[in-house]
Amino acid sequence: MKRDFIKLSDYSGVEILGLVGCADRLKRQKGKLRADLKGKSVALVFQKPSNRTRVSFEVGVYELGGHCLYLGPEEINLGKRESTPDVAKTLSRYVHCIVARVYDNKDIVELARYADVPVINALCDLYHPCQALADIQTIRERFGKFKGLTLAYVGDGNNVFHSLMVACALVGINVRFAGPKGYDPDPEIVRHAAGLARRNKCTIELGRRPQEAVKAADVIYSDVWVSMGQEKETARRVREFRGYQINAGLLQAAHKDYIFMHCLPAHRGLEVTADIIDGKHSVIFDQAENRLHAQKAVLLKLLERSL
Ligand code: CP
Ligand code: NVA
Repeated sequence: MKRDFIKLSDYSGVEILGLVGCADRLKRQKGKLRADLKGKSVALVFQKPSNRTRVSFEVGVYELGGHCLYLGPEEINLGKRESTPDVAKTLSRYVHCIVARVYDNKDIVELARYADVPVINALCDLYHPCQALADIQTIRERFGKFKGLTLAYVGDGNNVFHSLMVACALVGINVRFAGPKGYDPDPEIVRHAAGLARRNKCTIELGRRPQEAVKAADVIYSDVWVSMGQEKETARRVREFRGYQINAGLLQAAHKDYIFMHCLPAHRGLEVTADIIDGKHSVIFDQAENRLHAQKAVLLKLLERSL
C-alpha cells in the first residue's frame, strides 16, 4: 500500500526519528549525486508561491537522480480547471510522486485519496509537515537531543505551529504556545498532540503570555502573523498580534543558549526584530537548508528506497 506524507500524526515517533536520522545521513553526503530516483518523475503542484519548498524539492529530486516538474497555479488549477480526482488520476499515469501546496487541507486529502502514487503535503491551511521535520532535525543538530528541551512558539496557532507541535510531541520536546485570543491552534489537533505528548512524557501548554512561554525556553519559534491566503486580514492581524513580537526584551527570560527559529519568509519589525532574527542565536538558514535533506529522506521513504 502506498503511503502519503500529509500530516506527521500519520507517522509514529520511531518513523519520525528514522526520517531525521536519514536526513542527517543525507546531510553528511551533501552535494553527492545519488541514483535512487533514477527514471522517476515528481510533480510539484503549487497553488501558492514558494521559495524554500519549491527549490529544495527540485534540487532534492535532482540530487536523488530523478526528474521534477513544477506545475504552478496557471497550469493546474485544482478543482477549477478540472476536478481534483481527475488531476490525481491523470498525474498518477505520468509521475511517481506528487508534492502539493494547496489552500485547503481537503484538497490535499482528496488528491492523496485518488492518486495511485504517494502525495506529499508541501503546506496547506492546517499543516506544514516538511517544515516541522526539518525543524526537529535542526533542533537535534544544535542540542544533540530532544528530551528535556522546551520550545516556545509565540504568535499564530497556524499550519506551521500545528505540525511543529505534533513533531515535538512525537519526539519528546515540551511545547509552550502564546498567542492572542482568536488565534489559538485547532483544538482537535491540540487534543491529538496532547495525547502523543502524554505517551512521550512531554507537555503542551497553551497560554496568552509570551513572557511566560519563553521563560527558560531552549527554542524560540515564530512565524508570520498573516499567512498566505489571509492578506485581507492584514490590518486586523497586525493590530491584534502587537505584543507578540519576539524581541531582545522578551528574550531576556529565555535560556541563555536559546536558539531562534523561523520557517521564513519573515517580516522584520513585525513578528520578530532584525537584531534577533539576524543575531547569533538564529538558526533560520540551517532550518532552510535542512528542508533539502529532510525532504530527500521523505522521498526515499515513500518511494521505498533505503539509505
Ligand atoms: N518555509 C517555507 O515553506 O518557505 P516557502 O514558502 O518559501 O516555500
Ligand atoms: N504560515 C505561513 C508559512 C509560510 C511558509 C503561511 O502559510 O503562509
